[in-house]
Amino acid sequence: MKTQVAIIGGGPAGMLLGHLLHAEGIDCIVIERQSRAHVESRIRAGVLETVATDLMHRVGIDARLNAEGMVEAGFNLADADRLIRIDIAGLTGKHVVVYGQTELTRDLYDAAVERGLPTIFEAGEVALHDIDSAAPSLSFVEDGETRTVEADFIAGCDGFHGPSRQAIPVTLRREFERVYPFGWLGILADVPPCHDELIYVNGESGFALASMRSPTRSRYYIQVPVSEPLAAWPEARLWDELASRFDPISRRGVTRGPALEMSIAPLRSFVCETMRHGRLFLAGDAAHIVPPTGAKGLNLAASDVAYLSAALIGHFRAGNESGLLNYQDLALARVWNAERFSWYLTKLMHRFPDDGLFEHKMQSAELDYLARSTAMQTAIAENYVGLPI
Ligand code: PHB
Repeated sequence: MKTQVAIIGGGPAGMLLGHLLHAEGIDCIVIERQSRAHVESRIRAGVLETVATDLMHRVGIDARLNAEGMVEAGFNLADADRLIRIDIAGLTGKHVVVYGQTELTRDLYDAAVERGLPTIFEAGEVALHDIDSAAPSLSFVEDGETRTVEADFIAGCDGFHGPSRQAIPVTLRREFERVYPFGWLGILADVPPCHDELIYVNGESGFALASMRSPTRSRYYIQVPVSEPLAAWPEARLWDELASRFDPISRRGVTRGPALEMSIAPLRSFVCETMRHGRLFLAGDAAHIVPPTGAKGLNLAASDVAYLSAALIGHFRAGNESGLLNYQDLALARVWNAERFSWYLTKLMHRFPDDGLFEHKMQSAELDYLARSTAMQTAIAENYVGLPI
């Protein structure tokens, strides 16, 4: 099989890229290791910046997003006794939209079927070949048979654990990493959210987050030690712990209900500074990971895809190579900004096991300052809505 762009990974990065190229008449195929049902069962964050919503509008896959996405004009930072509202609309003129990544991915899959964007699920043993030659290819196993795709370019949108980044020789990869000493335990439940805006709390016994998917579906998280298994968290314990971490007003709004999903995710900051090798381009989690504080993961994938799609369209439509040459520098500049913000918000809002009372006083002093300073609030708001691309 021959194509112009072979896309490894059918998450939001790969599917968005596929749709953007397909709309321009550029031949592409998306190869996904998991089944569609598996991808659609993964719960991810749900806060979209305009970089993500703009791409969904551009590809015209926005009917459900427009109807069901919840426009958020603010969010809150809290500690045990106060709630500080960050008026993102007032301070930046922009907003974010709460719409689950799972829903966005489902919309992209439905549209792929309607539009004939070739998407192969359950592709095993995906391997990249000759990426530093003029004729790269990839192979995979489908229904027990090995298939090969020859392409002009390969887009590695296959997440942190996928084969794309590993195909770059280790001596050419510059990787930067920080692993955090805790994870997030999340619960999804069909109960009304405790508040109409998100609340990030630095509570007495650790971080908590109140988020939502709709007016009737809530998503909550608490910081837990990385070593702790899910089995240590019966639902009642999680609800008790959540309530104990919120400020008194938010706490009263928490409605308990049976879990639709519970899972623990580790927290990591990671950047691979090599986002291009020969004819392979990395995008999204394949090249960088942020801790979920601030919900930047999907939005960074979207900005990578905005740059990469423009670069590939420039190449195929106009023979213009500058986009491909500049891709890595443009993408990384935005990635490092989001890395800094996610790391900063993680440091401000979590209890680190090695921190003593002094560090906690520093967090409180910073929240005091933030509560009084419009300059600080503006800095947080403009990062939260997303820096311009
Ligand atoms: C979520 O709703 O899952 C969510 C929201 C905001 C975050 C992370 C996760 O920062």
